[in-house]
Amino acid sequence: GEGAPAELPLAGRILAISAGGTREPLDPVRYLGNRSSGRQGIALAKAAMAAGARVRFIAAHMDQPAPEGVELSTASTARQLQAAVNEAARGADVLIMSAAVADFRPAEYVDSKIKKSDEHADPVITLVRNPDILALLVADRAAQGLVGDLPGLIVGFAAETGDAENSVLEYGAAKLARKGCELLVVNEVGENLTFGTDENSVTILFANAAEPVHAAGSKDDVAAAIIAAVAGALRG
Ligand code: CTP
Ligand code: CA
Repeated sequence: GEGAPAELPLAGRILAISAGGTREPLDPVRYLGNRSSGRQGIALAKAAMAAGARVRFIAAHMDQPAPEGVELSTASTARQLQAAVNEAARGADVLIMSAAVADFRPAEYVDSKIKKSDEHADPVITLVRNPDILALLVADRAAQGLVGDLPGLIVGFAAETGDAENSVLEYGAAKLARKGCELLVVNEVGENLTFGTDENSVTILFANAAEPVHAAGSKDDVAAAIIAAVAGALRG
C-alpha cells in the first residue's frame, strides 16, 4: 500500500540560526573582529533545511555566502546582530546562536581615520560591554511567560579553552547554567582548532540533565548531530 510519506523530523518548524563573527568599528577603516568563518552555522542551516525546517539565517561576517533557501538577514556589529536576532526569533521554534559575538566594543567610534603622530601620545582603546544577546532573550522569554512568542528551545555555542583551574567541559557546564538556554554546544578552540577549518569536535550539553552527546567529524557531520539533538528535544 501507499502510506503517507515519512514526516521529516523538522517538518513545519522554524529555526532561527545566527552565524559568523561580528565586527566593532574603531574608525572608518578599522575594526575589532574574531576568527569565526560562519561555516558551522552554514552547515547547521543546510542540515535544518534537509530535515524539513524553514530557516531564518542571521549572518554576521562570514568567509563564504549564506546557503540558498534561507530567509537571510545580515548584521555587522553585536548591537545590529541583537536587533536582527530578536526579530528572527519571534515565532520561531528554535534559536541557534552559532555566531561569535564580540563581548566588547570600542567605547568611542572616531569618524575619520585615526592617524599616528609624533606630537601626540599613541592612542589607548577603551572597551565597553556589548549586550549578551542570548542571555537577554532567555530573560525576555521568562518575562513573557506562557503567552510568549520566543523559541522554547534556545541553543548556545561555547568556544572554550581549558586552563589550569577548569576543563573545557567544566567551563561549558557552568556557562549552560549561567546562560539559561536549553542546549549548549561546547567546542574546544585554539589557534589551529575549529576556526576556519572543516573539522570540528563538540559536546552537546542539555539543561534537563540528559546525557551529553559527543560529535566529531566534518562541520556537516557535527551539524547533523546538533540538528538531531534539536529534533529530539522538540519531540520532548
Ligand atoms: N553570545 C551572545 N551575546 C554576546 C556574547 C555571546 O548571544 N554578547 C552567545 C554566543 O553566540 C554563544 C553563547 O552566547 O551562543 C556563548 O558565547 P561565549 O562567548 O562562549 O560566552 P560568554 O558568555 O561571552 O562568555 P566568555 O566570557 O567565556 O566569552
Ligand atoms: Ca564571549
